[in-house]
This record gives sequence, structure tokens and C-alpha cells, in this order.
Amino acid sequence: MLKNLKLTQELLDYIYSHTHHLHPVQKDILKHNNSLGDLQRMQISEIQAHLLQLIIMISNAKNCLEIGTFTGFSSLSMALALPNNGQITTLDHDNKTVEVAKKFFKKAELDKKILTIVAPALDSLKKLAKNNKFFDLIFIDADKDNYINYFDLSLDLVKRGGIIIIDNVFWHGDVYDKTNNDKKTNIIRKFNLYVKNDKRVEKFILPLGDGLTICMKL
Ligand SMILES: C[S@@+](CC[C@H](N)C(=O)[O-])C[C@H]1O[C@@H](n2cnc3c(N)ncnc32)[C@H](O)[C@@H]1O
Repeated sequence: MLKNLKLTQELLDYIYSHTHHLHPVQKDILKHNNSLGDLQRMQISEIQAHLLQLIIMISNAKNCLEIGTFTGFSSLSMALALPNNGQITTLDHDNKTVEVAKKFFKKAELDKKILTIVAPALDSLKKLAKNNKFFDLIFIDADKDNYINYFDLSLDLVKRGGIIIIDNVFWHGDVYDKTNNDKKTNIIRKFNLYVKNDKRVEKFILPLGDGLTICMKL
């Protein structure tokens, strides 16, 4: 049997150069994020964005939710993959970065497709559930301390067959480093174990970017 190939940067570059095209405004956001220095690490990778787009298209998702807008790279990428009548709602508590994101959404003429909500995400999620909102796909990419809460609330907000995708489940590779015992790493380990044992979802961890868990609600 063929051994799994090691996912080297060269292999990722090869995959990327054979699959991906960026929209001009996606390029603008990447350029902007690049100017932010270390903060750029907040944004998902281009390859992850492309995968999200493909999942949206394959699953015919129309109504998406994102937890963690930042400057809008993942929101805009997802919006680009949605049909004309699709919508993405994106949640963040930082008005400053959301205002930057909104300028990019407008420039791409996708501002009508992207609804931003500025508030603590837990409050927004509870409000959405109270108003009986449902989504086809939810992307979780905000504060890790709340990952289990976000996951549980997301399960109330997707129908059967709905998709939940979670970023940073490798936590820079620290989750499988047995010598690492810091607080944040343990939070992600606890979350990964929680999802592993959750019978409400079928799941798979994809080694892309900082690790993406893809779940389908059963
Ligand atoms: C990793 S970034 C999101 C990156 C974005 N998905 C992208 O690819 O560009 C996480 C975001 O979550 C937001 N955030 C952190 N804690 C939050 C909370 N409790 N409620 C709402 N947003 C929060 C931060 O302000 C930040 O913009």
C-alpha cells in the first residue's frame, strides 16, 4: 500500500498552484493583512479558503454562518462561493476590524450577501437560535476558550446534514506535542476530544493550515 505523502510546503504549493484562483478583492485583503505583521496569522490560509468554497458548492449551501470575521478574508471567500440567493452572516466583537472587512465586501459588491453582527459571539448565537435561524454551514474561527460552547450552539443552528467546520484544531502542532502542557493547548485538546466523542456528528480532521475539523450533523 502507498504510504501517505508528507504534507510538505512544496506539496501544498503544488496543490495550490494547480487548484486555485483568487478574486481581486481576496488579493486586496491578503495584501492588507500582510501589512498587519504578526496579526496576519489570524486569517485562514488561501488553501483553506478554497476548500471552504468547494465544500459550500458541493453541499449546495445557501445560508452560512461564520464565528470570527477579522478583516473578512474567510467571509468574502465563502460569499464568493454562494449562489446569488445565498447569504453569510459573520460574527465578531471587534468593530474596528469589521469596519475594514465591510469596505472589502463593498468593493467586491458582495455587501448585500454578507451580514455582519458586532457583539460577543455567544450572545449573537443565542439570539440567532432564539429567532429560529438555521444555517447550512457554520465556520468556527474565534476565541478558543469558547470552542465547546460555539460547537454546541452551532449544533442547534444547523439542520440534519448541516456542516460545521472548525479551524486551528492542531494549535500550531502543539496538540500532538506530548511535552507541551500550556493552557490554550489543553483547551484545544479538550475540544478535540469532545468532538471525537460526540455522537451527534460524523467528523474528520483535515491537515490543512492549522488543522480543520469538518463535521456533519447526523
Ligand atoms: C482568527 S480571527 C478570524 C479570522 C477570519 N476567519 C479570517 O480568516 O480572516 C478570530 C476573530 O474572532 C474574534 N473574536 C474573538 N473572541 C470573540 C468573541 N468572544 N466574540 C466575537 N468575536 C470574537 C476576534 O476579534 C477575531 O477577529
